[in-house]
Amino acid sequence: MGTQLLKVATKAAIATSLLLAGCTEQAKPKQETTPPAANAPGTPTPKKVPDVVYVPTPQVVVDKMLEMAKVGKNDVLYDLGSGDGRIVITAAEKFGTKGTGIEIDPKLVKQATTNAEKAKVSDRVQFLEQDLFQTDISSATVVTLYLLPELNLRLRPTLLRTLKPGTRIVSHDFDMGIWKPERVERVKGPRREHIVGLWVVPEKVPPELLNVESELEQLRRLQTPTPQATP
Ligand SMILES: C[S@@+](CC[C@H](N)C(=O)[O-])C[C@H]1O[C@@H](n2cnc3c(N)ncnc32)[C@H](O)[C@@H]1O
Repeated sequence: MGTQLLKVATKAAIATSLLLAGCTEQAKPKQETTPPAANAPGTPTPKKVPDVVYVPTPQVVVDKMLEMAKVGKNDVLYDLGSGDGRIVITAAEKFGTKGTGIEIDPKLVKQATTNAEKAKVSDRVQFLEQDLFQTDISSATVVTLYLLPELNLRLRPTLLRTLKPGTRIVSHDFDMGIWKPERVERVKGPRREHIVGLWVVPEKVPPELLNVESELEQLRRLQTPTPQATP
């Protein structure tokens, strides 16, 4: 049953990853070529091209992610790529959790900060305009992710090296390569089925989990269009 779920999870993840990767490919050139004059005056733009486009996690999936991580009052939650802040804000509202959202897009940082004020949780949460790959997350006890398979893989060594044993990591839709989840759940969203996985940082990290190069190479090969696919 578990293996079957994982197979479904992997298939769905690859499908969704290709979907999101496609969006990213469209978004990247836009980011790089849109002249500043095309933006409303004063509109802040990211200092770095985002590694993945903004797609919010449906609330029912947010709730499942927090339930699976068993988030509580004493946790310190980091959402890497926090969008409008919904995961961090929901954890603070429902469980009193202290949280930090790391987000590259200043517009989303502003929106998340406003949303936190509206939800009256500003005393427990903060949103920082930062690159998630340059952020110190060592104080986290829970990390939430809705990124891409490649980004999860690139993050894996940092998560395993810097987080304390017992830290829970919950990822929406995308897995951690050969690092197998403790639990996988499927959630019916408004438009499709979502997959949530839970990983727990072990006391002793198997060395093979720290090397992601061959898995990254495999992913890149999977995502490279074949000659037949091009017109
Ligand atoms: C798929 S969205 C997920 C948003 C939110 N976590 C949720 O689940 O609703 C990914 C977010 O990551 C942000 N992002 C992309 N690259 C980033 C980077 N290098 N550092 C921080 N945030 C980044 C995007 O701007 C986007 O808001």
